[in-house]
Amino acid sequence: METSMPKVFQLGFVALGVADFERTRDYYVDTFGTTEVDREKDGTVYLSVGYHHHDIVLRPADDKSLLHLGYQLNAGTELDAFAKEVGAFGLKAQKKSDSQPGIAELVEVEGPRGNIFQFYETIDAPAPGFKSGAVSPLSLGHVAVISHEAEKLIAFYRDFLGFWETDWIGDLANFLTCSYEHHVVNIVNAPLSKVHHIAFQLQDNSHQFRAADRLIADGVPTKWGPSRHTAGHNVASYHYDPDKNLIELYTDMDVFVPELGMCQPRPWHEHFPMKPKRWDPQFSAWEVEFGFDLAQG
Ligand SMILES: [Fe+2]
Repeated sequence: METSMPKVFQLGFVALGVADFERTRDYYVDTFGTTEVDREKDGTVYLSVGYHHHDIVLRPADDKSLLHLGYQLNAGTELDAFAKEVGAFGLKAQKKSDSQPGIAELVEVEGPRGNIFQFYETIDAPAPGFKSGAVSPLSLGHVAVISHEAEKLIAFYRDFLGFWETDWIGDLANFLTCSYEHHVVNIVNAPLSKVHHIAFQLQDNSHQFRAADRLIADGVPTKWGPSRHTAGHNVASYHYDPDKNLIELYTDMDVFVPELGMCQPRPWHEHFPMKPKRWDPQFSAWEVEFGFDLAQG
């Protein structure tokens, strides 16, 4: 099977405009277990899961919003050439130097319907370490975005960035990846423009229960799960941060093998080989009722 590599290899960070700022910042540091690595004069904080300069960026704002997504380009990518390619694809791209701490150079791209992307080849890695005694995820994993212009957004990911499509749920959700994980982004086709959820990987399934215990100790209820999804087969649990952003914690995500166009076989798969397919609108492998309206967020 002919495969070409995507231009990026991981989701690097998610930047949010935050209305309930102090509570949300404290939640991410004290309960979730990230470390504040940097703070700008306007109050923007840069939070690290454990290694990179930032995985989450929170900026004080009147209304909550998704500011931008950061994706790390493959090693050796030349930023000027990348910006030109984006322009040739028909989107606006601007190279920026020292526009944020931790990233000396990046290319900012205005995607469909105001979705802003920041692409960079290198990010500082101060490695503040992983906190113990908090939720303390392993890594930022994926983001689910609701878009008015899902088709255009999917085309950018698939046709320009080279993401592989790994599954669909009805006409509602598309799953795409640039790595071994089943999805790095899912795009929900609905007349809204917002982030649906942000997902972090945990160590293993026992970490799901430790995380849920840790969350409720700080008064944060788990709204769904841990339970297994259909597309991706991740064991997932969901809760809200204080600004009402939906946060997914996941383990056991399907491993996509691009050379074969399929996921590594697992005992709980409904069919073999687990190739990309259009699922019936059923999100839970165990038929547990899924508690979130994807089209509403
Ligand atoms: Fe997810």
